[in-house]
Amino acid sequence: MNVTQFLEKNRARAESQLLEFLRIPSISTDPANAQDVSRCASWLADHLRSIGMPLVEVIPTDGHPIVYAECLNAGPNVPTVLFYGHYDVQPVDPIDLWTNPPFDPVVKEGKVFARGATDDKGQVFLHVKAIEALLAVEGRLPINMKLLIEGEEEIGSPNLGPFVRERTEMLACDAVLVSDTPMFAPGMPSIVYGLRGLAYLQIEVQGPNRDLHSGSYGGTVNNPLNALACIIAKLKDMDGRILIPGFYDSVLDVSPEEHDSLADLGYDDNRLLLDVGVVTLVGEEGYTTAERLWARPTLDVNGFLGGFTGEGAKTVLPARAMAKVSMRLVPYQTHEEIAKKAMDYILRIAPPGVKVSVQDLHGADPVLVPRDTSAIFAAVKALEETFGTKCRFTREGGSIPVVLLFDTVLKAPTVLMGFGLNNENAHSPDEHFDLNNFHIGMRAVARYYQLMAETSTR
Ligand code: BES
Ligand code: ZN
Repeated sequence: MNVTQFLEKNRARAESQLLEFLRIPSISTDPANAQDVSRCASWLADHLRSIGMPLVEVIPTDGHPIVYAECLNAGPNVPTVLFYGHYDVQPVDPIDLWTNPPFDPVVKEGKVFARGATDDKGQVFLHVKAIEALLAVEGRLPINMKLLIEGEEEIGSPNLGPFVRERTEMLACDAVLVSDTPMFAPGMPSIVYGLRGLAYLQIEVQGPNRDLHSGSYGGTVNNPLNALACIIAKLKDMDGRILIPGFYDSVLDVSPEEHDSLADLGYDDNRLLLDVGVVTLVGEEGYTTAERLWARPTLDVNGFLGGFTGEGAKTVLPARAMAKVSMRLVPYQTHEEIAKKAMDYILRIAPPGVKVSVQDLHGADPVLVPRDTSAIFAAVKALEETFGTKCRFTREGGSIPVVLLFDTVLKAPTVLMGFGLNNENAHSPDEHFDLNNFHIGMRAVARYYQLMAETSTR
């Protein structure tokens, strides 16, 4: 039996095991789920042991554990690949918008619906199943493999950064492989060569010492919600330009060559309009949609809290207001630099009569990975052979905090080869993953490892 036949024969089993993985509510941001996150790490570690990985560890951190595994018996003449992924997931709210409960996975029309299905448990698990197939059929892996699967990606990887810096020897490798990104479109395999970074702030505005009658006090005591709205209105202009002084100082411009290569992808604005149900797109003047999404920084309010939001009307001047604001960054902005510039500016424009405070919640640095490495060439070949169609090079707008460190600390090139789709509702109700991509992904990944064995080590 060859690897493809093994994968074919074990389709149903792989799917039912994926559902088991998806049933564990590994929400990293909520302390109430800490036990579940640990349980998920143990489940994954047990599974890796069961497929024959010779070394598997659950490594505790100050936060959620890291699952580490290796299989290094392919010999010194073939490369070592480090696979990175995450088993933690985003919160589920608004829970009432889910058609089925987020941790009670169901399969409908060839898609599995659950929190974490596409981001990133489904994509992690297809690697586990590809490794299982290679071990089962060949008795060994074609290359040396290390697996690093964390439980804190969705909260900015606060403990993985220090871990990577401390364990450079343990994590030493010739290339890093990540499957935590979408494909360009259904049936169009892609390699992502750039990710945006992130700076995430929480702004709190304290006004009077208690909620007040808006008739007795309105017009004299500043209203924290009005004040916060004024602050937010000054962060970005109507043309999508961010008004924080120095915000664009270190932004790498889109070169004419890159402009052309992104244009060649044929990004479909209409498909985006239909997908999200809006009538027009907005953004910075002079840039295409793909550039606005992938190569330009932006700022969004993620949440706005305060005052009376119940049924009917209540006349009140609230005492407090809060907003969560994130900025997506591009090379060579850093999240520390941008968070500082934003915090200074927000405090400077704070209206009188209220107390404004800003907290830096977390961040990630943007990254561009080289496109001309042997690890990338092998990935292109594996994707093209498996999907039977041309592989695209794209950038993406999301962030994966640790990826920059693979370059700067481990000095290894990263391959971002994902099998998700942008409209699979990551971070939103009814998240799902196309099971076709789950299975074809396994074949692509197994083929990638075989092709990597033919490249020389550094
Ligand atoms: N899988 C995403 C990253 C991603 C999203 C890449 C979309 C490409 C396109 C990842 O799990 C994620 O959501 N990361 C967070 C990181 C943040 C919390 C620091 C993100 O981008 O919001
Ligand atoms: Zn995510």
